[in-house]
This record gives sequence, C-alpha cells and structure tokens, in this order.
Amino acid sequence: MTSPDSETVELDHEYLDTITIEGREYQKYAIENRIYFGPVDDDETDRLELQHRVFNKVFDNRLIFPPIPRLRRALDCGYGAGTWAIEVAEQYPDCEVIGVDISPHMQPDDMPDNLWLQVDDLNRPFTFPSNHFDLVHSRLLATGINRSRWPSYIQDIVRVLKPGGWVQIVEIYFNAQSDNGSITEQSALRQWSINFMGAFGQTRDLRIGARLKSLLMEAGLVEVDTRMIPLPLSAWPGDARMRDIGAFNRDNIQRLLPALGSYPLTRRLRMPQEQFQRLTIQAQQEAGNPSLKPYFPLYVCIGRKP
Ligand SMILES: C[S@@+](CC[C@H](N)C(=O)[O-])C[C@H]1O[C@@H](n2cnc3c(N)ncnc32)[C@H](O)[C@@H]1O
Repeated sequence: MTSPDSETVELDHEYLDTITIEGREYQKYAIENRIYFGPVDDDETDRLELQHRVFNKVFDNRLIFPPIPRLRRALDCGYGAGTWAIEVAEQYPDCEVIGVDISPHMQPDDMPDNLWLQVDDLNRPFTFPSNHFDLVHSRLLATGINRSRWPSYIQDIVRVLKPGGWVQIVEIYFNAQSDNGSITEQSALRQWSINFMGAFGQTRDLRIGARLKSLLMEAGLVEVDTRMIPLPLSAWPGDARMRDIGAFNRDNIQRLLPALGSYPLTRRLRMPQEQFQRLTIQAQQEAGNPSLKPYFPLYVCIGRKP
C-alpha cells in the first residue's frame, strides 16, 4: 500500500528475497547492502510483539509521550512488526500513520485503513514533504542507522515535522549494567555486549541513546527532554512494578541475545558457531540471575520543532 504523501519507491522483489543463516531468516537486501543484520522471520516478529508489550508496561500504556492536541499525521521510522504504528492508527482513527522499514517481512496481514507501510532505507534522505507530520517516532534503530548519518537523520526528521510537531526516539544501550558491580569484564553478558558492539565497529553508534539530547538540540529542537530508564533483564528489582516489568522482559531478553547476536558475532566477527552458542547460553543465564541485577539502559528522548 502506498500513500500519496511520499515518493518512497514501490515494493520490488529485491526487497522480498531472504537468506537463511543458522536457521534464521534475514532480508537478503539488508544483509548484502550492510543495512540491518537482525532476523526478519516469524520468531523475530513474535519477539518484537513481546518487546512492544514490555515497552507498554514501562510506559504505562502510553504510545506517545509529548502533548499533541490533534494528531493528524504520524511517521514511524523502522516499524518492524508494525506494533507501535498499528496501535497508534487504532487509537487515533483520524490520524494518517505511515511506517517506513527496509524490510516488509514482519508487517502484519491485517492493518487499519489509516496505516500505510512502505519500504525504504532510512540512511537515505527522506522523500516526504517538509512540514508534514505532527509526530515522528523512531525506536531501536541504532543497529541500522549509520554512525555518520545520525545528524542528517535527525535533520530530515525535523524537516518533515510541522512547526510545533514532535519527535520521539527510544533506544536501548545493549551493554548490560549492574549497580552492584557484579557484572565485570569477564561476565558473559559483558562479553556478549563487547563482541556485539565490536561487530559494528565504527559503522554504527550503539551508544546513540546517550547522545540523543545533544543531537536534538543541535538540530534546533526545543523542549528537549530525555531520560534513562534501567530496563531489568529479569525479575530482580525490589519495586513491584519494575519487578513485573523484569519478569515480562525476561523472555524477550532470552530470545534477543541469540537473535540479534547471531549474524554480527558469527558472520562479521567470525566467532565460531559453538563459541557463540556457549557465550549466548552463559549470557542468558546471567540475564536471568537475580543476584546480578542486570539491566540495559533504555533512553527516551522527545523534542519539539519550534
Ligand atoms: C529492532 S527492530 C525495531 C522495530 C520497531 N521500531 C520496534 O520498536 O518494535 C529494527 C527495525 O528497523 C529496521 N531498520 C533498520 N535499519 C533500517 C534502515 N536503515 N532503514 C529502514 N529500516 C531499518 C529493521 O528492518 C527492523 O524492522
């Protein structure tokens, strides 16, 4: 389905081809063009749906954080399984919601009439008109946006926002932390993170969450507000609400470590498959170990176009 609002290219078979690696399916185009290295199969669709429910718990079921009195047009960058975009389209039937993703594989069969999903590479300049959207949403794109692209990515977002429109960005820093010092350099979780980040080298900025505030301010946005939420990897927090979030997130993390780690570690870093599996199993055990109190920093940042 295409929207009249964009010149985004029509769906082409080159975007549909997949390749199977170690039992998981990837988009051939994204792998060959070094755009995105996560699987796009049914397992990943399920995991993204589960992860979306984790976010809904973290954000108390709020999909949109800034105050937007009349939401008429929203853009979701990297819609994945379409979870956020569908819920926004359903909650705001008068809003035209457009999603862009390099991979169409995880898009749902049934979609609200006010949702249009398109295929494009967000590393390329946006083709949407200027001053067009009330809200641009971007969640978990750090492994797919080139490091050098971030300033112009934000500038593109600002260009397509209406004056007074808002951007909302959510990123996870995939380097497990613990405030009790129990995660050391030798920990499997830390080794998983070091290898994961090392696999992307200088091509991506996996620490982008901590830079969002300055990027948004440099792009001229105002009322920039950012916060870091420790996202528990399992049910360890003392606080009942956070423990519930951790319990819910546990399954997501157990699936995330092998899903997102496989291609970067075994294909880019050339870690032997057996070593990767051993490391992942140990990292999964640590993620589920309450005495380690592990969390991923989750960054949320919003800003308004003046
Ligand atoms: C980790 S998933 C997150 C999906 C969704 N935003 C969510 O929060 O559930 C990342 C998504 O971004 C897409 N993606 C990554 N890099 C991209 C790029 N350069 N252009 C377009 N889509 C990209 C991937 O295909 C994938 O669907």
